[in-house]
Amino acid sequence: MAELTMVGLALDSLDGTGPVETDVARPHAVPVSRAAAGMRSAGTVRFERIAKTYRSAGGEVRALDDVSLDIPSGAIFGIIGRSGAGKSTLLRTVNRLEEPSSGRVLVDGEPIQALGTEGLVALRRRIGMIFQHFNLLSAKTVWQNVALPLTVAGVETREIARRVDEALRLVGLEGKAGTYPSRLSGGQKQRVGIARALVSAPEILLCDEATSALDPETTVSILGLLRDINRRLGLTIVLITHEMSVIREICTDVVVLESGRVAEVGPVWRVFGAPEHPATRALLAPLTRDVPDDLAARLKPYPGPGPRAVLRITYSGGTPPDLSALVAATGGPVHLLQAGVEHIQGHAVGRMLIAAGGTEAEARLRAIGQDVEGIGYVAADD
Ligand SMILES: Nc1ncnc2c1ncn2[C@@H]1O[C@H](COP(=O)(O)OP(=O)(O)OP(=O)(O)O)[C@@H](O)[C@H]1O
Ligand SMILES: [Mg+2]
Repeated sequence: MAELTMVGLALDSLDGTGPVETDVARPHAVPVSRAAAGMRSAGTVRFERIAKTYRSAGGEVRALDDVSLDIPSGAIFGIIGRSGAGKSTLLRTVNRLEEPSSGRVLVDGEPIQALGTEGLVALRRRIGMIFQHFNLLSAKTVWQNVALPLTVAGVETREIARRVDEALRLVGLEGKAGTYPSRLSGGQKQRVGIARALVSAPEILLCDEATSALDPETTVSILGLLRDINRRLGLTIVLITHEMSVIREICTDVVVLESGRVAEVGPVWRVFGAPEHPATRALLAPLTRDVPDDLAARLKPYPGPGPRAVLRITYSGGTPPDLSALVAATGGPVHLLQAGVEHIQGHAVGRMLIAAGGTEAEARLRAIGQDVEGIGYVAADD
C-alpha cells in the first residue's frame, strides 16, 4: 500500500545514516529532504472547491466557501486571516477532523473522503498535528507521551523505544524522557508535542497556532525547529498563525482567507512583498506600522543581495539606546530612519526605526538586550 511505503521512507529519513543532529541553530547541517534523497515526492494536499457550513440551533455559518488550493510537497504553507475566517476549519479537513459540506480534499492525489476506517487510521498516521495548548497527558512522562501514537498502533516494544528516542533527540529533549509535562516550560512542552507528531514519521505536519502560547524567544526556537524538520525530513508543514512575522520568517507560501474564501495565495515573497487584497494589507499593517510610506514601498520581506535589516527598537523611559552600542553590536553602520516617544497611560515609550547590518543584525541587537523587531529588508544601496 502506498501509505505504508511512505511511512517506511519517512522513517528511513528520520533514521538517517548516523546519529540525528539536534542543533537547530544549523538548519542547513543535514539537508536530507525527500527530493534530495531521490524519494517520491509526498505530502501534497489539494483542496478542490471546499465548502463547509456549520449548522446549529443558532442558525448556519458558512465557514468555507469554494476554497481551491494546492499545497506542494515540502512547502511550509501558512494560512492567515482574521479570527473566524475559516483557517482552523480548512486545516482540519486535511486529516478529516472536519468533513467538508462539499468539495474534495486530496492527499498525495488520493481523495480522502472515500477512505474507510482503516484508511482513515493510516491517513492520520501520515499526518501529524500540533496544537496551541500542546494537548499532553499530564499523568504520563515525556517518553510515554511521545510513545503514545505507537503504543496505540500496536508497534513492537523495541521499535517504539528506538523511534521515541530518535524523535526526542530530533527535538533536543533526550534528557527529559522521564520528566512529567508539568515540570516543562511551554517551549519544551511544544517540543514534546512535535516529537509525538513526528514519531509516526508523517509526511505532513499540521500546526494550529503552535507558537501562540509561547514568548517571542521560545517562538523563535520552535520555528527554527520546524524549519529544521522541514528541511531534514522533507516534511510538508501547514501552519496557522496570527503572527505575520512568523509567516515571513519561515513560510514558503501563504494563503489569505477572508470570510471563508481565498483572498490571495502565492509565495510569501510575492504576497507579502506586493499584497494585492485589502484583507492582506490589513493583516500586514502591524508590520509596517509607523513606517514612512517611501520606506514601506521599498521594504522586502526577504533579504536581497547586500541586505540591510530594517528594525524597530522599542524602549521605555524615554532615553533611547546608545547608538554607538548598536554600532558595536551589529559590527557596521546604523542608519537612524525615524525616532519618537509616545506617552501611553503616563509611560514614555520610545520607538526607533533603524537600518543596520545584514540578516544577523536583529539577533545581535537582541543579544545585547534590545527590544527589537525585524520588519523587513532594504537593499544596501537603496
Ligand atoms: N463546530 C462549530 N460549530 C459552529 N460554528 C463553527 C464551528 N467551528 C467553527 N465555527 C464557525 O466557523 C467560522 C470559522 O471558524 P474557524 O475556527 O475555522 O476560524 P479561524 O479562522 O480558525 O478563527 P480563529 O483565528 O479565531 O481561530 C467561525 O464563524 C466559527 O464561529
Ligand atoms: Mg482557529
